[in-house]
Amino acid sequence: MKRAVIYYSLTDNTKEAAEFVARELDASLFCIELAKPMPETKAKQMFLGGMQASLGFTPEIKGVPQDLEAYEEIILGTPIWAGKEASPIHTLLKKYAIADRVYAVFTFSGGGDNEKCIASLSKTLVNLKCNVALADRAHESSSNNPQKLKQFVEDILS
Ligand SMILES: Cc1cc2nc3c(=O)[nH]c(=O)nc-3n(C[C@H](O)[C@H](O)[C@H](O)COP(=O)(O)O)c2cc1C
Repeated sequence: MKRAVIYYSLTDNTKEAAEFVARELDASLFCIELAKPMPETKAKQMFLGGMQASLGFTPEIKGVPQDLEAYEEIILGTPIWAGKEASPIHTLLKKYAIADRVYAVFTFSGGGDNEKCIASLSKTLVNLKCNVALADRAHESSSNNPQKLKQFVEDILS
């Protein structure tokens, strides 16, 4: 089984989890980036990213594997932006035919909204079997992340 973990991360929460999941599953790891980087300040990031996500924009991305077709099982990692997947992951799902190969998703949020995002993603990810909601490192419940991630990996393997 050829597996890929594909993620986007602005402040590295999702990146760290993606590295763990890829290592545990012996999967290939790919980081999606915005072709035009986000602005430097937090306020501008919140404004631009929030607007892109809530309006369903598909900003240009880079880092998509050339041999995407070769992966039979894809695990997606995304921060929550405005209650939805971050816009680079939205672009990935809109522009590349991977929806039926995404079997698992892990999301990071600053407090909530993971379930809302998964509910909306489930409409297009028809084979989604596992998901896990993780908390930003600044959030008090982030101490549960390692245990949740371990269980997530076990669920994928079972
Ligand atoms: C543009 C933007 C929008 C966000 N919207 C939400 C949100 O709607 N709900 C929430 O709980 N957290 C929200 N957050 C917080 C991020 O989901 C959270 O910090 C996440 O852990 C970031 O992951 P990363 O470090 O991999 O980028 C938002 C952050 C950004 C930058």
